[in-house]
Order: sequence, then structure tokens, then C-alpha cells
Amino acid sequence: MLPQWFNDWNRNNPTNVFGPGIIVGAVGGAIIVAVMLVAYGQPFATQSMQTGPRGTGMSVPEFTKQVTKPDPTIEDYYTEEPYVPEGGEPLAKDIYQNVQVLGDLTEDNFNRLMTAMTLWVAGDEGCAYCHGDVDVEEYGEDTLYTKVVSRRMIQMTQNINEGWGDHVNANAEVGVTCYTCHRGEHVPSDIWFKIAPVNQSMAGWSANQNRATSISQSTSLPSDALETYLLEYGTIAVHDLESRVEGSPAGGELPSIQDTERTFSFMNYFDNSLGVNCVFCHNSRAFYDGSQVTAQWGTASLGIAMVQEMNSDYLVPLADVYPEERLGPIHQDAPKAACKTCHKGYQRPMQGLNVIADWPELATTEAPVYE
Ligand code: HEC
Ligand code: HEC
Ligand code: HEC
Ligand code: HEC
Repeated sequence: MLPQWFNDWNRNNPTNVFGPGIIVGAVGGAIIVAVMLVAYGQPFATQSMQTGPRGTGMSVPEFTKQVTKPDPTIEDYYTEEPYVPEGGEPLAKDIYQNVQVLGDLTEDNFNRLMTAMTLWVAGDEGCAYCHGDVDVEEYGEDTLYTKVVSRRMIQMTQNINEGWGDHVNANAEVGVTCYTCHRGEHVPSDIWFKIAPVNQSMAGWSANQNRATSISQSTSLPSDALETYLLEYGTIAVHDLESRVEGSPAGGELPSIQDTERTFSFMNYFDNSLGVNCVFCHNSRAFYDGSQVTAQWGTASLGIAMVQEMNSDYLVPLADVYPEERLGPIHQDAPKAACKTCHKGYQRPMQGLNVIADWPELATTEAPVYE
């Protein structure tokens, strides 16, 4: 194909083209990578949030990309400023037939809240999701379970904001509304049911372990951590550091190995709920030492008590109200909430957006206070 003289010349003057070829290729490749790094920035850059004293290595590192990425659900958050009453307006309890919780709202604010609740939990169905396909005159009926559940949800939300301000406003005013859990859906993400097996005498009794469930964070750790700690008020603790101690796990005096593993299962759940690591709350050299924890540990501790109350006083008693298909697959129990139902993988739900500012109606169990 090539002219004869070239082939002859080539044969008589052998040259190593591979060596220079590799060098040119490597240098060229490096230049391209360098230009891209300068143009687009380091793709794996991290940021660290220091959580403990200097020199202890207590920090939560995360990819910058992850930290700066906005929570996509924030954009769809509907909010509207309240109408500050001038006094003398008739209240919902005077106007409507059956308002048991929101009676002290003026008509404007009542409708404002109904609109928001609709957009927060049932945007596609509208008012009919809770009131059915009837005239507004009949909205006082409690025919649908969704309305009865919502009334309790309103009370629960008010109670969280009023009674647990040290958690939900720990750093700044943030609070919670229906949207914190629901994010536009009827059924919030990250709810949970009891999954402990019902029959202990069966062959293959798993003792709740070695089952890769979402509650065990897909580990071999026990899957019953949420029900043990957030429903049954079990003690969150690990086995003793001493090799020989008085008492026995069987007698309930000491935490057993399974208690230890269940504690770690629960702590993994914390990490994944908030998108942090253990040193966000603990000094990892001494997980057991209450004097070496961070401020967030205190907030988390309150969070545990808050969730226990939410479940036992509000969510569990709704079991009789829900239709069967909403109940748990094994124990037919009511759907329950925990850390991830609000946090959704973020350190602060909705990245710390103040959601309560516009909703004094949801901030207190008493008559709302407008400024
Ligand atoms: C997520 C459920 C839900 C949605 C959606 C909803 N409501 Fe309601 N609505 C309620 C609850 C709960 C009550 C009762 C509040 C109470 O007892 O204090 C209520 C009560 C009412 C009442 C008072 C009826 C009476 O006579 O007692 C009116 C009027 C009303 N809603 C209008 C609306 C309108 C208009 C919409 C749509 C923009 C709407 N609601 C959407 C849950 C809902
Ligand atoms: C702390 C989290 C949380 C908050 C805040 C919250 N909810 Fe819920 N909600 C739940 C859970 C958990 C369920 C049970 C899910 C299910 O029905 O399977 C639920 C269920 C519901 C349902 C029944 C949905 C269905 O189709 O079965 C309605 C309606 C509802 N909530 C309305 C509200 C309203 C209105 C508010 C605000 C006043 C609110 N929720 C606030 C957690 C929450
Ligand atoms: C969001 C804060 C938070 C995070 C993150 C967290 N913990 Fe905890 N941890 C707590 C709180 C609060 C308690 C105490 C609970 C109680 O006793 O009521 C606790 C208790 C413990 C205990 C029991 C200590 C004892 O007294 O026996 C251990 C062990 C532990 N955590 C380990 C971990 C590990 C390992 C991780 C990471 C996988 C982790 N924690 C992540 C808040 C956190
Ligand atoms: C009802 C919703 C809700 C639930 C459930 C919930 N949290 Fe929170 N949590 C919040 C809100 C809202 C904030 C933001 C407070 C602020 O920054 O002012 C928060 C803040 C925190 C913080 C402080 C974060 C920081 O940057 O200082 C920790 C730690 C925390 N939550 C842990 C937990 C744990 C652990 C659980 C489960 C046991 C839990 N939360 C359950 C709503 C919730």
C-alpha cells in the first residue's frame, strides 16, 4: 500500500515509536485531566464539620457535592403568610358544624390551612381526599378515615411544636408541619411496622437477626431495634467493659450481646436517618461516657423521647381508624414514625428551613398567636 521506497527506508532505519508514543499519550492525558480539574473543580472534594474538641478527630466529612446539593422536596413546599386577625371576626367554631381542633381560627386562616394541608398531603385529589366528593356544606361529616386521621395529625403536629421545641427548634426556629413528614404524599416515606417474627418455636427462628431489612440497615444486626426502643422503652445499652461483672443478662440485670447488637443497629439507623457518622454525637473513644458526648447527643436524646410519645399517644391508637391495607404486614399494627420519617437523610429536616414561621395554628395546642 505504501510506496516501495518508504518500506525499504523504514526497514533500514528501525525506530522505536512506542516509547515516545506512550510519553506523548501520558503527558497529553495528564494535561487534559489538569485542564478539567481547573475548569470543573475537584470532583471528590470533601468538607468536614468539626463536632468535638480540636485534636480528637471528631468530624463528619462529606462530599462537597453532597453538602451543597439542595433537598429537592424544598422547592415544592407550599407556604403562605397568616392573615393577622383584627379582632371581632367570627371564628371557625362559630361558622362550621364540626371543628374540634381548629375552632379558634378565623375563616381566612382556616381556609388557608385547609389549602396548605391539601397541598402537603393530597395535592392530586384536593379537598375530596379528606372530605369526599360532597358539597362544602357537608364537610362537617367525619365519613372518611383520612379526615379522622388528619384531625389527630393536626394535634400531633401541634404537640411536637409546642412540647418538643428543644428538639425541633434546637438551633433556630424550624418546627414541623405536615410536609416535614408527608412531602406531598399521602403516606410519608420511611414509616415502619413491627417485624419481629410471631412464632419463636418454629425451626429457623432468626431471633430478628441476619435478615437484611431496611430497619437493620441491611446488616445482620437485629431488625427489632425501633420497636424495642421506640415502642417498648427498652434500655439502649451495650455489655459491660469489665470482663467479670456481677449479674447476668438472662436475669435482665445486664445488657446481653443481643442488646449490644440491637443498640448498634439503632445507632446505624440514627446515622442513616441524619446522614452523619457516629462522632456527630459521640466521642468514639468512649461511646458509653455521657461526659464526652456532643450537644447533638442531647438533641438526639430528646428526639428519642419525642418519637416514643408520638408513637404511643398519637400514631399507635389510630390502628382502629385506618383501613386494613394500611396496617402492618405481620402484626396488623398502625404505621409508625421515627427519626427518618422527618429527617429523610438530612442532618436537619428540609435542611433547616423554617417551616413553622407561617403556621402559628400548628405551633400550639391553644388558640394560635399571630404577631
Ligand atoms: C388532609 C385532610 C384534609 C384536606 C385535604 C382538607 N381538609 Fe378540610 N378538614 C379536615 C379536618 C381534619 C377538619 C376538621 C378540623 C377540626 O376538627 O378542627 C376539616 C374541616 C373542614 C371544614 C369545616 C367543616 C364543618 O362544617 O365542620 C371545612 C369548611 C373544610 N375543612 C374545608 C376544606 C377545603 C375547602 C379543603 C380543600 C381546599 C379541605 N378542607 C381539605 C381535613 C382536611
Ligand atoms: C411526624 C410525622 C408526621 C407528621 C408531622 C404528619 N403526619 Fe400524617 N401521617 C404520618 C404517618 C406515619 C402516617 C401513617 C401512614 C399511613 O397511612 O400508612 C400518616 C398518615 C396520614 C394520613 C392518612 C393517609 C392515608 O392515605 O392513609 C393523612 C390524611 C395524614 N397523615 C395527614 C396529615 C396532616 C394533615 C398533617 C399535618 C397537620 C400530618 N399528617 C402530619 C406521619 C406524619
Ligand atoms: C444523632 C446522635 C447519635 C448518633 C449519630 C449516634 N449515637 Fe449512639 N447514642 C446516642 C444517644 C442519644 C444515646 C443514648 C440513648 C439513651 O440511653 O437513651 C446513644 C447511645 C449509644 C451507645 C450506648 C452507650 C451505653 O451507655 O451503653 C453506644 C454504644 C452508641 N450510642 C454507639 C454509637 C455508634 C457506634 C454510632 C455510629 C454507628 C452512634 N452511636 C451514633 C446518639 C447518637
Ligand atoms: C417530628 C420530626 C422529627 C423527628 C421525628 C425527629 N427529628 Fe430530629 N430534628 C427535627 C428538626 C425540625 C430539627 C432541626 C432543629 C434545628 O436545627 O433548629 C431536628 C434536629 C435534630 C438534631 C440536631 C441537628 C443539628 O444540626 O444540631 C439531631 C441530632 C436530631 N434531630 C436527631 C434526631 C433523632 C436521633 C431522631 C429520632 C430518635 C429525630 N431527630 C427525630 C425534627 C425531627
